[in-house]
Amino acid sequence: MLDEMEKLVSLCKRRGFIFPSSEVYGGINGFWDYGPLGVELKRNIKDAWWADNVRSRDDMVGLDCSIIMNPRVWEASGHVGGFSDPMVDCRATKERYRADQMYVFAYVFPRTNQKGEPTEAWLAGLGGGPEEAAEAVEKRAAKLAKKFGEPTDPPAVIPYLQVSAEDREKVIGPATDERGTLTEPRSFNLMFKTFVGALESESNVAYLRPETAQGIFANFKNVVDTGRVKLPFGIAQIGKSFRNEINPRNFTFRSREFEQMEIEFFCRPDESQEWYAYWRNARFRWYVDHGLQSDRLRLRDHEPEELAFYSKATADIEYAFPFGTSELEGIAHRGDYDLKQHIQHSGKDLSYFDEERKERFVPHVVEPSAGADRATLAFLCEAYIEDEVGGESRTVLKFHPRLAPVKAAVFPLVKRDGMPEKAEAIYRELKRRFNVFYDEKGAIGRRYRRQDEAGTPFCITVDSQTLTDGTVTFRDRDTCRQWRVPGEGAARALDDLLQGGSVPEAS
Ligand code: GAP
Repeated sequence: MLDEMEKLVSLCKRRGFIFPSSEVYGGINGFWDYGPLGVELKRNIKDAWWADNVRSRDDMVGLDCSIIMNPRVWEASGHVGGFSDPMVDCRATKERYRADQMYVFAYVFPRTNQKGEPTEAWLAGLGGGPEEAAEAVEKRAAKLAKKFGEPTDPPAVIPYLQVSAEDREKVIGPATDERGTLTEPRSFNLMFKTFVGALESESNVAYLRPETAQGIFANFKNVVDTGRVKLPFGIAQIGKSFRNEINPRNFTFRSREFEQMEIEFFCRPDESQEWYAYWRNARFRWYVDHGLQSDRLRLRDHEPEELAFYSKATADIEYAFPFGTSELEGIAHRGDYDLKQHIQHSGKDLSYFDEERKERFVPHVVEPSAGADRATLAFLCEAYIEDEVGGESRTVLKFHPRLAPVKAAVFPLVKRDGMPEKAEAIYRELKRRFNVFYDEKGAIGRRYRRQDEAGTPFCITVDSQTLTDGTVTFRDRDTCRQWRVPGEGAARALDDLLQGGSVPEAS
């Protein structure tokens, strides 16, 4: 399975979807750059989200807030006090781990050690869950089995945080062979700190926002005062967020700088459950409609014990990535928690007056919170397919046409007989409306393959028949079918296809 991820990471680099940040200097862990194709893909995802959730609705407005805010925002939101992960250091290797992602596998082997004592090994493995962590310890356990015999029972698997302080001395860290090199777990705040102004003093400390949501709450009154909105309504924002993750991993999945697409939907308390159900389903459908159609997508309701104390319900939209099933988006019923926190900390009245019912109250909030980079990664994973066409294998990214970075490529079959001129004229015409690409280099089959790998849904070729009857060849990425279209009708035909028009039979 990991092989699949390696192939995707390599394609992303080779074709210009995603590069490691500052790679010429050796990169920097947890930061990524989007290349020429990647920036188009991610922008199309954000544009589709904005068009569907903001522009096409009467009950949603947008915001674009600053990344650095008054630090009191983060005191009110609870991030200064509580936005932390438990961290463990290894004294031997200087590695740092997330204690909540570490699992201990306690083996008892049949043979004794040199001193005749029973052989126990408490091996620590890292992962999103025990299965993934098990993969990490498997090799080490196999080595020990050679020496001390196969362990008779499956190992006891214990989350590291549940291992008693005394037993932690027995644990062998993920990258050592020694016992007792791991420190006690400590809380590590994930917010990036900086200073505002010339003085690097405590009173000038500020934070890079760890979520876009708080900018929305802090502007709730401003938006209501514009007079453009009436309950129920939502405020949406797309923007960068920053978290100093202890263990950034799985390509862009857990990064230190990432983009969120968040909605805070404000409503009457007595209508909040209905709105929660609405957003939970609407957001799931959105991914399905854009191509995550397989059984890799699922909606998981949180168990009551998983909920934050103020939340009435939360659901995660999860996707089965090659490295495991993980969250793409969370939909949370947050009650009136956030607005009340800001009322308390700012001393400002953030309640809402319902003109019709003549009632004043603090609205309840439903929050669909998505990650643009995780969505991009899921669409890439879903689109990646290796298949065979005419006995030749190819790699193809089967993106939904709305998300595909390039909508069509235009080729002259050969570089003579006036074909390049005709193809370029069609390209120029299409470029006024679509993101298209012109290519005249190499054999036509190779050019098709290159577009398949870029996820371009259609190719348009000017060939010898174009010179006699003015028609061009259209070629569909997914079926490889080809058919002819009048050159002057190419833009309309492409538009139809991109809108979901069906691909004609081959001609
Ligand atoms: N305002 C609620 C909030 O921020 P969250 O579950 O912490 O909730 C929401 O984050 C979404 O942001 C996640 O579902 C994920 O898509 C994205 N996200 C969070 N941390 C991320 C990280 N380190 N790297 C990439 N995306 C991340």
